Amino acid sequence: MTEEFGLIEPDAVEGFGDEWEEIDVSDSEADTIARKRDREFSEFRKRLKDADQFKVEQSVFDDATFAAIYKLVQDGHIEAFGGPISTGKEANVYEALGADGTDVAVKIYRINASNFRHMTDYLAGDPRFDGIGGDKGKTVLAWTRKEYANLERARKAGVRVPNPIAVERNVLVMELVGLVEDRARRLAEVHVENPETAFEVVREYMRRLHSAGLVHGDLSEYNLIVHEGELVVIDLGQAVTVHHPNADEFLRRDCRNVAGFFSRQGVDVDGDTLYDYVTEVDPTP
Ligand SMILES: Nc1ncnc2c1ncn2[C@@H]1O[C@H](COP(=O)(O)OP(=O)(O)O)[C@@H](O)[C@H]1O
Ligand SMILES: [Mg+2]
Repeated sequence: MTEEFGLIEPDAVEGFGDEWEEIDVSDSEADTIARKRDREFSEFRKRLKDADQFKVEQSVFDDATFAAIYKLVQDGHIEAFGGPISTGKEANVYEALGADGTDVAVKIYRINASNFRHMTDYLAGDPRFDGIGGDKGKTVLAWTRKEYANLERARKAGVRVPNPIAVERNVLVMELVGLVEDRARRLAEVHVENPETAFEVVREYMRRLHSAGLVHGDLSEYNLIVHEGELVVIDLGQAVTVHHPNADEFLRRDCRNVAGFFSRQGVDVDGDTLYDYVTEVDPTP
């Protein structure tokens, strides 16, 4: 790594806190499309199922997922699919061509593969998701919407995250960080030349996220990506509001993970010091 890391400027400084936005998980247009199964959708589904990059996955994507992709294509958010960037436990991430020739990342949560119990733990206690109950499909939908809402909230608070573009059922479209030919690396994969500066940026993003009322909940060198001197926080699906009963425990764990990584890089920090910084109202560094 040769570049210095820089902080981004917050978009606005007011209007955050712990306000609870409404998150709608009612039947979406994609469900209607999947039910109707008209000719156009059936042909689209067949084409996608036959595409090389989906061949291995066809058993895990259900019709409603194909319908969600179809809707995103119709709405102009996706023009063409590239290959998979990542196939994780719960979601696959693909690179794709978005509106106006921009590159986008498409994160598709697999309803069947999703670890439903683990998701419920993060949703229960988040006031934005009262009333989801034990419905697995709804839980995954809520999860995807939550990731979108969290990205939006983080972005507004001045945390560098992928710009969220669209969400449909279990499919999230966001800015692709890095280029198709030049994949962005996770912090864990790069040699950090100036860990002190990188740490200061991450610490500040954690503080901004916290003052916007959110705790990431899975922050480590694996969910921080690096591209062209920028550090980008990703994977905000599990992020909870500070009201969540386990928010403090999640934050302490995030602080331990991040401090652990940077102290292995030679930075003089531990989890408690980082926690104090992140939760201090107006820190003077
Ligand atoms: N917006 C994005 N731009 C570029 N790469 C991304 C983007 N989102 C995810 N990725 C890549 O996909 C991987 C998995 O994404 P992530 O959101 O962390 O999902 P998971 O829940 O599977 O960990 C990341 O480690 C990163 O390499
Ligand atoms: Mg991840």
